[in-house]
Amino acid sequence: MKNPVTVASGTFGYGPEYADYIDLDRLGAVTVKGISVEPHIGNPTPRTFETASGMLNAIGLPGPGAQGFIDKTIPFYENYDVPLIVNIWGKTVEDYGRVAEILGAQERVGALEVNVSCPNVKEGGALYGTNVDLFRTVVDEVRAKTDIPIIVKLAPNVADIKAFAKAAEECGADGLAIMNSYPAMAIDIETRKPQLANRTGGLSGPAIKPIAIKLVWEAAQAVKIPIIGMGGITEPEDAVEFIMAGATAVAVGTANFTDPSSALRVIDGLERWMAGKNIGSVAELRGTVEA
Ligand SMILES: Cc1cc2nc3c(=O)[nH]c(=O)nc-3n(C[C@H](O)[C@H](O)[C@H](O)COP(=O)(O)O)c2cc1C
Repeated sequence: MKNPVTVASGTFGYGPEYADYIDLDRLGAVTVKGISVEPHIGNPTPRTFETASGMLNAIGLPGPGAQGFIDKTIPFYENYDVPLIVNIWGKTVEDYGRVAEILGAQERVGALEVNVSCPNVKEGGALYGTNVDLFRTVVDEVRAKTDIPIIVKLAPNVADIKAFAKAAEECGADGLAIMNSYPAMAIDIETRKPQLANRTGGLSGPAIKPIAIKLVWEAAQAVKIPIIGMGGITEPEDAVEFIMAGATAVAVGTANFTDPSSALRVIDGLERWMAGKNIGSVAELRGTVEA
């Protein structure tokens, strides 16, 4: 990464959508929306709903498939030097391996972020991310199919995040992303219907930040591989908090929807905050919470 700040998968499209608003080359990396082997249509609408200090979504991982991504998006990045992290998912373990093999072979792709934690699809999500044995089979398969760095994105709704963090490290992951959105629900009390067509969704935004901080703090004590922390990061101070908890880098997600330049504000503000405290590197700040 060029600097410690990327954008969270699914909150920044594939990148071109934001290119008119910010200089993508200033980001530490662009992390794109999840890609599977085949094109996927996603869930019926409504698939987003605003909640107190956050949002619920059940987008359901629509996307153009690996070949669609290679044809449409990779050429766009030839004009940029920002590192590209591609978020991947599959309906089966074999699917995960196949998409990793195809995209891992693309020269422009710097790393794969393995989404084993989407709360909004029956396959590829909750199932693999919350059962440590299934989780291992996915990470093993992806590791076997590519040599480029793999970042495993963990589910927050597990009893012991350390077990999943360690399993990913043992299976050869190069890094962790913590956390995905938290399974949640909201109801329209007039119609007595769920606010999302999918009935349940994933909660993101400032409402989940304290959950994410705890998970990063716990995982950081269990593994040596670096962690990209995310969950509600909106201001530079939020990034400082994640790094103190043990993150090496951070991702800005839901905040992109209210201000497309959120990640740039976090980059600049983090640099200023560190300079103000005479802190020369993220390594100096990382894990310094006195807990
Ligand atoms: C609309 C939306 C779509 C998302 N799509 C994906 C996805 O495709 N793959 C994935 O791993 N995470 C996805 N996420 C989860 C985010 O990357 C992130 O982990 C989560 O939202 C927490 O960060 P935040 O609170 O800053 O948004 C999505 C989140 C939102 C809000």
